[in-house]
Amino acid sequence: LLSAVTGLNVMSDPCSFSSFTRCVTKHLNLHLHLDFDRHVIRGRVALTVEALEDRFSTLTLDSSDLSVVSVTANGQPARFSLGPKHSFKGTPLEITLPFDLSRGQHVIVEVTYETSPSATALQWLTPEQTAGKKHPYLFSQCQAHHCRSMIPCQDTPSIKHTYYAQVSVPKDLVAVMSAVRDGQEVDPQDSGRIIYRFRQTVPMPSYLIAIVAGALESREIGPRTRVWSEKEFVDKAAFEFSETEAMLKTAEELAGPYVWGQYDVLVLPPSFPYGGMENPCLTFATPTVLVIAHEISHSWTGNLVTNKTWEHFWLNEGHTVYLERMIGRCLESEQFRQFKAIGGWKDLQDSVNTFGANNPLTNLVPSLQDVSPDDAFSSVPYEKGFALLYYLEEQLGGPEVFMGFVKSYIQRFAYSSVTTEEWKNYLFAYFKDKVDILNKVDWNAWMFTPGMPPVKPQYDTTMADACNALSQKWLQAKDQDLNSFKRSDVKTLSSHQVIEFLSLLLQEDPLPLTHVKKMQEIYDLNAYMNAEIRFRWLRLCVRSRWEEAVPLALKMATDQGRMKFTRPLFREVFNFEKFRDEALRVFLAHRAGMHPVTSGLVSKDLKVDVSNAASQ
Ligand code: BES
Ligand code: ZN
Repeated sequence: LLSAVTGLNVMSDPCSFSSFTRCVTKHLNLHLHLDFDRHVIRGRVALTVEALEDRFSTLTLDSSDLSVVSVTANGQPARFSLGPKHSFKGTPLEITLPFDLSRGQHVIVEVTYETSPSATALQWLTPEQTAGKKHPYLFSQCQAHHCRSMIPCQDTPSIKHTYYAQVSVPKDLVAVMSAVRDGQEVDPQDSGRIIYRFRQTVPMPSYLIAIVAGALESREIGPRTRVWSEKEFVDKAAFEFSETEAMLKTAEELAGPYVWGQYDVLVLPPSFPYGGMENPCLTFATPTVLVIAHEISHSWTGNLVTNKTWEHFWLNEGHTVYLERMIGRCLESEQFRQFKAIGGWKDLQDSVNTFGANNPLTNLVPSLQDVSPDDAFSSVPYEKGFALLYYLEEQLGGPEVFMGFVKSYIQRFAYSSVTTEEWKNYLFAYFKDKVDILNKVDWNAWMFTPGMPPVKPQYDTTMADACNALSQKWLQAKDQDLNSFKRSDVKTLSSHQVIEFLSLLLQEDPLPLTHVKKMQEIYDLNAYMNAEIRFRWLRLCVRSRWEEAVPLALKMATDQGRMKFTRPLFREVFNFEKFRDEALRVFLAHRAGMHPVTSGLVSKDLKVDVSNAASQ
């Protein structure tokens, strides 16, 4: 048994206090009152809980920085207590029912509570932090373990439930959630407010509950798609995401029907810590097409079939990257898929270098006993996961054959949560005629060994050749060769290829300062606004110790807050001895306006005193 071999306990979630072996939540009924003056949500949540054992009378919910006002069970007062606070799991909320349940019976547990202004799931933006400058804004980000700071619940991806929500906001604001909209009304308690209603009828894990409120507008861009954002961004977003329906159709052909009804996209303010988040019915995104192919794919891998705990996160992200690249294969070409896979291998190498090749967090399936999912996050589950699936694809008969397995896996485990062991067992069952091939795979090396994978796939280099050639030319150039470079070197490359060119240079020792200065003179990369290009270019400059790039790098680190960019940019300047204090100064000056998770992780990266960080 995998669990015996690895010590992973399949019956519990190391990131949650709620024991899902004794009871499971079936439905949440939420009433949320958003208080933009105090930066808190006043909430009331009714959880429909099913007992899985006889004489059931106590349950534990996850919570984090919540103040609990009262608890009832089927309308009767219930006793409750908050346990000691754990560094990242939060505070267990122990509830004693005034009666016993037998196995299979349901109880409605209602908790009245208030969130903390520092809730890790929420970022409250002042009007000045928005595009419109007139109204405040709130967004949530619950994955992986932050839902508990917004709602007391069984905050584990092993449990799925439906939800209904009513959200009261000031009447100038609009609220949207990861659900289907179900009408609105003036708040009967306060005519200055509106209540928006939502229903999610497909069972889903708590980390997919999401809320946004602000001066939002929307525009229809497809039969099941609207884009939402502040009005300043709506037109640009509608243009950027015009391919969404084509991608949805392609994904449905590959993976089966889309079950969530609506597929809307919310474009967030620049402080959103991720490039995209697959909230059902309402993907949260920064405006980038490729992010959408990825988040659409999660509608099957992640949202329909879900990792049972965060130790099996690669099942979500590895399969999603695989599907995303399959969409790229259908809409662009096989060569494009191969090109993206080459870039992915480099991202994996980067993460392995950052963590260290012996770090157990570079295992495909890491143990997360006492590790926060935020600290464990990296490209490893994405790209080691993809590399494994691609390797299996090659061994087992190619893209069509292996996509057949992925589709079948999705059907088999739809609406449930799975472990790596269940995935592997299903793989062996599906390819029962090819077990000899499967038995030759070094599973232990792929899954439970740190560092790079045991096998490096041979990807087609057609689209990468030009990037390799140009990067080699720069790496080998002597000062007297620098005049042979021309503006057309990069002008003839696609933006994907410029990214790849810069990634290749970032894998090597820093270029001499003369080289990067010349590169700027000829290519004018400072003028590029594509974030993926700009991010790599500024890192390259700082590594070569170009002082003039430091303010640009720090500006990018603070003008937007996507952790993929912000963290390495701060780290890069921090490692430039002469500007270490400047990195710290800029971080401390911006910290109060940053997303709570981002500011926490940058604090750690820059070794800012934790007691300092806690007092923000
Ligand atoms: N689900 C992730 C984002 C995430 C992961 C948030 C873990 C919190 C914890 C999302 O689907 C994702 O992978 N986003 C990527 C997009 C990229 C791969 C196209 C990102 O933000 O970089
Ligand atoms: Zn993802």
